[in-house]
Amino acid sequence: MRKKIIAGNWKMNLDYSESKSLIQNIAKIESDFNANAEIVIFPSMPYLSVFHELTKDIDWINIGSQNCYFEKSGAFTGETSPVQLKSLGIKYCLVGHSERRDYFSEDNVVLAKKIKALLEEGITPIFCCGEQLQVREANVYKEFIMKQVEESLFDLSVQDIARVVIAYEPVWAIGTGKTATAQQAQEIHQLIRNRIAKDFGDKTANEMSILYGGSMKAENARELLAQKDIDGGLIGGASLNADTFAQISISYSE
Ligand code: 13P
Repeated sequence: MRKKIIAGNWKMNLDYSESKSLIQNIAKIESDFNANAEIVIFPSMPYLSVFHELTKDIDWINIGSQNCYFEKSGAFTGETSPVQLKSLGIKYCLVGHSERRDYFSEDNVVLAKKIKALLEEGITPIFCCGEQLQVREANVYKEFIMKQVEESLFDLSVQDIARVVIAYEPVWAIGTGKTATAQQAQEIHQLIRNRIAKDFGDKTANEMSILYGGSMKAENARELLAQKDIDGGLIGGASLNADTFAQISISYSE
């Protein structure tokens, strides 16, 4: 069954005490979240362990990692492996966020390795894809997004791809206040699902969650999340405020 996910990507924001009070406020959200509708929070790496402990008795909140490396262990200063994340009890990890692609030169091949490494440890990768403004304006965005999806995911087995969550995040909508319209987002979500169905079958495609990210906020969340192929949100700026994040989450869990 497709899971509904509202995820908060805090990026490199908030110090420890600010982060802690935000997670404590999110834990108070009164919603109908359950095993099939959950919240996943991605704080900065140093806080993962403490926040995981803080929330481990709340079954509808999970703490995820914003990044990982694909090796299991070794001389890779500054990196964190899926094995290490698993040892903390972490269940989700972002892969291929456009900021990682742009600032840290991560390409589809590296991302494919990270996805495999995470799946080996039983961690769910949230694989991000999405086009820059010039790609959309040149009207080649569908091919561009399909290439990202195919190169990073299509070597997986049917069983493994079914365990991946995809997030469509148009780069021109990230942190810009400019959201994709519900129709623009639905078009891409449907395209991704149909492409997966073609190679991996309808059942697999229908069971996979595909999230939308890019200036999602309380005012536009309801319409975006109502689309047939949108199964949740990956929220940046608006996830840094407990009230706004609660509004988005509650409207979706009802
Ligand atoms: P914003 O919601 O701030 O546009 O960020 C989206 C994002 O990058 C989530 O990963």
